[in-house]
Amino acid sequence: MGLIALGVTGGIGAYKAVEIVRGLQDAGHDVVAIMTPAARQFVGPVTFEAITRRRVITDQFARGTNADIEHIALASDIEALVVAPATANIIGKLAHGIADDFLTTLYLATRAPVVVAPAMNTLMFAHDAVVRNLATLGEHGVHIVGPGEGYLACGWIGKGRLAEPAAVVAAVRRVLRPAGDLMGRCVVVTAGPTYEDLDPVRYVGNRSSGRMGLAIAADAMSRGARVVLVLGPVGLEPPYGAEVVRVRSAAEMRTAVMQHAPDADAVIMAAAVADYTVSGGARREKLAKDQETLTLTLTRTTDILAELGLWRGDRTRPVLVGFAAETHDVVTRAKMKREAKRVDFIVANDVSRAEAGFEVDTNAATLVDAAGTIDLPLQPKRELARVILDRVEALLSARVAATAANVDDPS
Ligand code: CTP
Repeated sequence: MGLIALGVTGGIGAYKAVEIVRGLQDAGHDVVAIMTPAARQFVGPVTFEAITRRRVITDQFARGTNADIEHIALASDIEALVVAPATANIIGKLAHGIADDFLTTLYLATRAPVVVAPAMNTLMFAHDAVVRNLATLGEHGVHIVGPGEGYLACGWIGKGRLAEPAAVVAAVRRVLRPAGDLMGRCVVVTAGPTYEDLDPVRYVGNRSSGRMGLAIAADAMSRGARVVLVLGPVGLEPPYGAEVVRVRSAAEMRTAVMQHAPDADAVIMAAAVADYTVSGGARREKLAKDQETLTLTLTRTTDILAELGLWRGDRTRPVLVGFAAETHDVVTRAKMKREAKRVDFIVANDVSRAEAGFEVDTNAATLVDAAGTIDLPLQPKRELARVILDRVEALLSARVAATAANVDDPS
């Protein structure tokens, strides 16, 4: 993916721009930072240089490393220009076409989409001049993100805080993928582990981090889908804009999934759902360690994916995708699971490999469908998410085409 220019201007939120760089890099982008003199009062260019691994542009007239007119060269190289935080001053300059430094000149020179994330005091944000300038930027096709509400550095509570970095990154991704292959579609994704409570302080759980499911949710969002994310107990932040349903146990996950399945065009079960729960439910009081050994009796939970397969029957909607975490006979077991659970395809991975599976950002998998198997080599989970969503998209469009053909040809 391409290069994104991030303009950082002088607001207290400038430090958050570091997280925006990280988020854009996680989404596969290369980032070049441009800092105004005021921004450098808040964060040093070295910080951005270290994380972007590129020279930070701080001065329009610095002796260049090449003979190109840099703002013109960059203007045609970038895929998007993001200004975050954007002060009232920069918003005013952009709205009026003032070009007195590198960032403002770049804005006029580029034809790449522009995303602006304002950050300022509540009263400044509400001032008619700022309101009008933002409206002008909107008319120029600039995408405005936020600002958020809350405590401001100046002591006020209200609107003006820089939008969360994840929201800015999500806006950039949306802007770069406006066609939205999944626009108007609803995708239900489950992620994370489930915890089966033993007593008020203990539970039986598993090591799923939720990374794979979150990557799938983020990819589906960037394709324009409405995403319902049924999320077990995880420490990671869900992608901005997903409708998050927090659950704890397998039973809660089942209720949430079955409630949203009728609206779904696809259900992707990436969660590591507990296969067993504590018989009789959680004890009301804490178990004391008054015995040498402790025997727990566990009862099978409902297999949500199998229930979905049964519920769908011979219909083709929603597309059903399962995961299979295996330690041996990966493909054979995945094929059996696919048939038994009546799903479209299974993403099977060998969790005995250190770099695939739980708690890591990479995964290697085998995609098992009715036609056979496809090996997906070790890659970042976000890349794997893309392959899985490509597959879901292909199945959905094939089904739309098949339905249309049936309508055309009543025989
Ligand atoms: N799954 C589910 N409900 C359960 C257990 C699993 O919906 N109670 C889903 C998982 O989300 C995953 C798929 O089923 O998409 C496969 O889960 P996995 O644990 O690998 O296999 P199981 O079918 O549970 O079989 P086993 O544990 O015996 O390997």
